[in-house]
Formats: sequence, C-alpha cells, structure tokens
Amino acid sequence: MAYNLLKGKRGIITGALDENSIAWKVAQRAHEEGATFTLTNAPIAMRMGEINKLAESTGSKIIPADATNIDDLTKLYSESMDLLGGKIDFVLHSIGMSVNIRKNIPYTELNYEYFNKGIDVSALSFHKMLAVAHKMDALNEHASVVALSYIAAQRAYPFYTDMADIKAMLESIARTFGYHYGKQKKVRINTISQSPTKTTAGSGIKGFSDFYDFANNQSPLGNASADDCANYCVSLFSDLTRMVTMQNLFHDGGYSKTGASQEQLDMLGSR
Ligand SMILES: NC(=O)c1ccc[n+]([C@@H]2O[C@H](COP(=O)([O-])OP(=O)(O)OC[C@H]3O[C@@H](n4cnc5c(N)ncnc54)[C@H](O)[C@@H]3O)[C@@H](O)[C@H]2O)c1
Repeated sequence: MAYNLLKGKRGIITGALDENSIAWKVAQRAHEEGATFTLTNAPIAMRMGEINKLAESTGSKIIPADATNIDDLTKLYSESMDLLGGKIDFVLHSIGMSVNIRKNIPYTELNYEYFNKGIDVSALSFHKMLAVAHKMDALNEHASVVALSYIAAQRAYPFYTDMADIKAMLESIARTFGYHYGKQKKVRINTISQSPTKTTAGSGIKGFSDFYDFANNQSPLGNASADDCANYCVSLFSDLTRMVTMQNLFHDGGYSKTGASQEQLDMLGSR
C-alpha cells in the first residue's frame, strides 16, 4: 500500500547491488511513495549491470561513485541536484564490506590493511557523504540521512569480527554529525540496526544461515526482512519522523530486547 509519504522529495540511494540488497527494496518503496532519486554504487559493482533494471523500473538515473572518494561524492551530489531539480531531502547509506570477513580471518588475528579498508568503505564513507553534503549545502532543512548498522556494534558477536568495531564507528558518526548538522541546518541523521538479512553482504559472513535461524527463533516477531527495512527507511525519510535524530534504531522484531526465547530453550532441552 502506498501513502504518498515521499511525494515531492528528492533522494540519493547507495548500495543497490541486486534485487536482494536492502537498498534495492528501499528504492522500490521510495518510488511507490512518490519520491524521485538517483541511484549510486561503486563503479566496479555496476559491471554486473543489475542496477539498470532498478533504474528503469523506478525512473531513476545512475551516478557511479566510490563512496570513499571525495571527488566522486562531490559529483554525485551536484549531478543529483541537477537531475532532480533542487536540494536533496533524503540519503540512504547502505554500504558495507570487510576484507577480513571475506577472507575468514579471525578477530584476534586481523589484517590491519584490510581493517583500514573496511573502516574506509563502511564507516568513513558515511562521514565523507555527510561532510561533502555539508560543504556543498546540498541537503534541505529536515532532510533525513539513514545508514544501516548491526547489533554487533553494541554486543559481542564473534563471527562479525572487524565489522563490529566498524559499525560502532558508523553509529557514533550518526550521533556526532547528527548534532552538528542538526544544529546548523536541521538535518537529521540516524542508523537502523537491522536483523540478519539474506543479501550478498549478509550471506558472506561465516555461519550466517545458522545465525539467521538463531535470531529468527530469538525474536518475538521473527527477523525483519529487507522489505520491512525498506518500510522503516521510508518512515524515517518522511515528515512523520521529523524530530527523530542521532538515534540508533533497532529494527529486529524485538531481538535486541529478548534475553532468551522459549524456542531456543526448548531446542536445548530436546538435546
Ligand atoms: N544483510 C544483513 O544481514 C545486514 C544486517 C544489518 C546491516 N546490514 C548493512 O546493510 C547495508 C547494505 O548491505 P546489504 O545486506 O544490502 O548487502 P549488499 O551486498 O547488497 O550491499 C552492500 C553494498 O555496498 C556497496 N559498496 C561496497 N563498497 C563500496 C564503495 N567503495 N562505494 C560504494 N558502494 C560500495 C556494494 O556494491 C553493495 O551494493 C550494509 O551497511 C550492511 O552492513 C546488513
């Protein structure tokens, strides 16, 4: 069901790689809600060509940008404002990558070159996107910027290795930049801490499917899907949440507040 929640709003959506990507679903929902937006991803991810389908179905233009590169980001904002006809009302940061996770390197033996790369791509890119927008004055008052996080930023999850620390930094950037950008331009900045979700980035984590099932059993409502996440993002981009900022918002079916579920205990009891 569509409510025209984003009618007249202009946005930038990063991170749609294929139809499983959370950003892909956000783009579809934002389109249904009346927004116009540009799509962007790292030039290397464009080679798969999947994003063209999304651009066609949502009437969007694609602007390739490596989110770690200030020149690319500057071009992203200036071309987006030209194409969409004005300043931007919402931005989705949906970017994550850890070479240490890809290579299955344990937390106690992290490779620091890979760690730095992960920080740059997955956390500093968020600061850079905000800093470039701030410098260019590219966002409207009460614009909403959302980045995607995971509960391992706040609790120990061994399989998430360096991404746990990187997501902690991401959440901190949302708070700190949220203060400054809020004071100066009334721009609001939040992170959504999302359930495990079956995407390319998610499924790249060792033991992901076991953990997906664990979280699903632990949460009273079950895991929140990518479609559910898209709905939550739309609500945060809309004017209905215009006073929400600097928050890390759990979107996880109640997982983060559950100590133990009866389902998990029953499974242990049946051993
Ligand atoms: N899947 C999950 O279980 C889960 C749970 C919580 C949070 N998240 C977060 O959600 C976000 C989106 O991930 P997803 O699960 O949709 O997976 P995904 O693999 O579909 O998306 C990750 C995106 O990051 C892009 N990217 C990587 N390096 C980049 C760069 N240098 N510049 C620009 N873009 C770059 C990739 O091309 C890809 O589109 C990530 O921040 C991820 O950590 C995912």
